[in-house]
Amino acid sequence: MINELNRANKANYIPMSTSRVEKNTATCLLENEVKKIKAFHDQSEIVNSIMVGDSFEIMQKVDNDTFDMVFVDPPYNMQLQNELYRPNNTKVDAVDDEWDQFSNFEHYDDFTKAWVKEVKRVMKKNATLWVIGSYHNIFRVGTILQDLGFWILNDVIWVKSNPMPNFRGVRFTNATETLIWAVKDKNVKNYTFNYEDMKKHNNGKQMRNDWYFGICNGIERLRDESGEKVHSTQKPLALLERIVLASTRKGNLILDPFAGTCTTGVAAYKHDRRFTMIEKDEHYANWGLKRFKNIHPEFFK
Ligand SMILES: C[S@@+](CC[C@H](N)C(=O)[O-])C[C@H]1O[C@@H](n2cnc3c(N)ncnc32)[C@H](O)[C@@H]1O
Repeated sequence: MINELNRANKANYIPMSTSRVEKNTATCLLENEVKKIKAFHDQSEIVNSIMVGDSFEIMQKVDNDTFDMVFVDPPYNMQLQNELYRPNNTKVDAVDDEWDQFSNFEHYDDFTKAWVKEVKRVMKKNATLWVIGSYHNIFRVGTILQDLGFWILNDVIWVKSNPMPNFRGVRFTNATETLIWAVKDKNVKNYTFNYEDMKKHNNGKQMRNDWYFGICNGIERLRDESGEKVHSTQKPLALLERIVLASTRKGNLILDPFAGTCTTGVAAYKHDRRFTMIEKDEHYANWGLKRFKNIHPEFFK
């Protein structure tokens, strides 16, 4: 299993943009400084920022038509009824976080409609939206996107090379998540799709909508001093890098309104894109900031 994961992640590893490495000068560092902020007075302050606070409140202060691409990894609404144990009686590290609690489907749908409307407003005319989810939420999100006018370009299936087994043996192993890629409405034609680059990443063949990546594990997985996972749903960086490389250009501004540990921002930064991360839990935001410090320690002296 580990070998399979290593193979999948090695095959998908993308080195940092060479221009980023070459441009590592004092001017460039200033231009690209990453900051954690709680409020902003001028729209320019949201660039390369990790904003700590409620996404709905923060997005309301952002101008219309601001972002070139939006990636959303919203709460899943897992609705876990009971704690889950492995056959050897060890507890499964499930997604039972406070941020994933909704009283019923209606509550979740209201939450979804609210962020979809706000995201649509801050997207530029030709921007694209990516949403990732599991069977618990992605069908509801897809319906809401279509009801609110979005036009779906693709669904992409993330096939996990190392999924968690179905411990009780009562269902199939759940080895996939679904991504929806969409534009604001069906008249949008000139959105960014780097077709040739994607072909290069797929050995010269047209990139398909089944993507193989391991779940976030090993040294990539953020863990605190006691070895506990920092975030229960940290996404693999390689998955976000593919999204960024497929659907944005250098210098584009990318929003992630439920940023967690800022995987989207790191992928953007690594490939010379700009970003705005919003996360209400400061603990996650602080870990997000550390990830940038690890890329370029000299930024943060
Ligand atoms: C599924 S996780 C995102 C994980 C992220 N993609 C990563 O790789 O670390 C969803 C995140 O949304 C945050 N969140 C939930 N509601 C929020 C809100 N109203 N405003 C800002 N963040 C919120 C949660 O704290 C959680 O970290």
